[in-house]
Amino acid sequence: MNDAIRIDIRLAMSDVVGEAHGITPAELDSTAGRVRELHGALVQDRVDKVRGFYDLYKDTQVIDRVKAEAERFRGMGYENLVVLGIGGSALGLSALNTALNPPYYNLLDSTARGGAPRLFVMDNIDPVTFARMMSVCPPEKTLYNAISKSGETAETMLQLLIVMDALERAVGKAGVRDHLVITTSPDRATAPDAPPSLLKPVAEEYETTTFDIPVNVGGRFSVFSPVGLFPAAVLGMDIDGMVAGCAVMDTRCSSPDLQENPAYLCAALQYVLDTRKGKTMSVMMPYSDGLRDVADWYRQLWAESLGKKNDLDGMKVYVGQTPVKALGATDQHSQVQLYREGPNNKVFTVLEVLEFSETVPVPDSLVCVPDLAYLHGATMNELMAAELEGTVEALTHSQRPVIRISMPRINANTVAQLLYLLEVETAMAGQLYHVNAFDQPGVEEGKRIARRLMGGNG
Ligand code: PA5
Repeated sequence: MNDAIRIDIRLAMSDVVGEAHGITPAELDSTAGRVRELHGALVQDRVDKVRGFYDLYKDTQVIDRVKAEAERFRGMGYENLVVLGIGGSALGLSALNTALNPPYYNLLDSTARGGAPRLFVMDNIDPVTFARMMSVCPPEKTLYNAISKSGETAETMLQLLIVMDALERAVGKAGVRDHLVITTSPDRATAPDAPPSLLKPVAEEYETTTFDIPVNVGGRFSVFSPVGLFPAAVLGMDIDGMVAGCAVMDTRCSSPDLQENPAYLCAALQYVLDTRKGKTMSVMMPYSDGLRDVADWYRQLWAESLGKKNDLDGMKVYVGQTPVKALGATDQHSQVQLYREGPNNKVFTVLEVLEFSETVPVPDSLVCVPDLAYLHGATMNELMAAELEGTVEALTHSQRPVIRISMPRINANTVAQLLYLLEVETAMAGQLYHVNAFDQPGVEEGKRIARRLMGGNG
């Protein structure tokens, strides 16, 4: 079975959408030289272990422990898995869950869920949502995974404070270790650069199972660390399939030549379209409900990594495309009017699934309405494919550049390929914009101010 995902950039080229809106072969060639040089810097950072996200999938020791602990906790028969975390500590798992678990997963009974718990990812501090989660997830039937690299994010800490009060009352102090797993930075004794996570004393006090987020892996690049993999394994997802998908894409993205490296090709395209053709917005539009949270995850990855005031030399540059998440076919009835006839300032990445896990045939019903006969004998899958084709063609008729990513099917392998591709693309885009794709100074300041407003140390 060939599970390789395909990347097609032909509809972003000038011969299709015109020179004002698409890339000319000469522009691509001129960027290729720069990409080749910048590849050296990225490889060096990888070799020097400055950037750890590339090699997470190779850490068999960590992955084996993740699988073993997940198996142990699965054996305890929890009804719920609640992830406490926000941003990069939550979005990767949500993307995996929406893609790899069936729709309406939490409504299925335990047998249909393969004995795995329901999942609640608390990627916010909305009091109504949180209170409702607490009431539908009794602590004694729930496993909590608190995830924070810094170990000080106010939203996550507040979620944990609330949970700990209820949990300790329900199961007693000694019982907490069976209900709480902590994922945070490593000990400073072994990793002096690690932030002084406030989750560390919690882990010690309650003797919890703890996973490390490597110091050289940022939140939004951490999906293949225990941040994403431990809860994914508790849910019974195919971790080996993900590892295989990462390996496939790592190999494909190892060439310095953008014609051979799909991540570099996409990065170069987005960069040139933004800086030379005014495509300041990047829309990701999967034609699959399963991939809608991949677009959400990518939105954070692209925005936080590339939206920067200062470049690497400290010059004020104010760069970064605004990422937009959309969904086909739904947003054809919401956004496509704007996409086709509004400002021509967007590049579209359309995600296509060639074979859905279900085929829904259209029955020959409503024969009393002859105008519906054209749908008889078709499938919902065919209409979805036709809608994608129609939108892509219509966008290009309006000179809107489109990158098309086709996935043979959705499984752990292909989803991992896609996420890995997008991570490497983001790393190269950071190089092209000459910014640090791995920090988030703009976020940190907001976190500090909020802490001060709450009476803490700002
Ligand atoms: O990508 C990032 O670095 C951020 O989105 C973080 O993941 C987010 O701010 C949460 O931080 P932490 O994991 O330290 O709680």
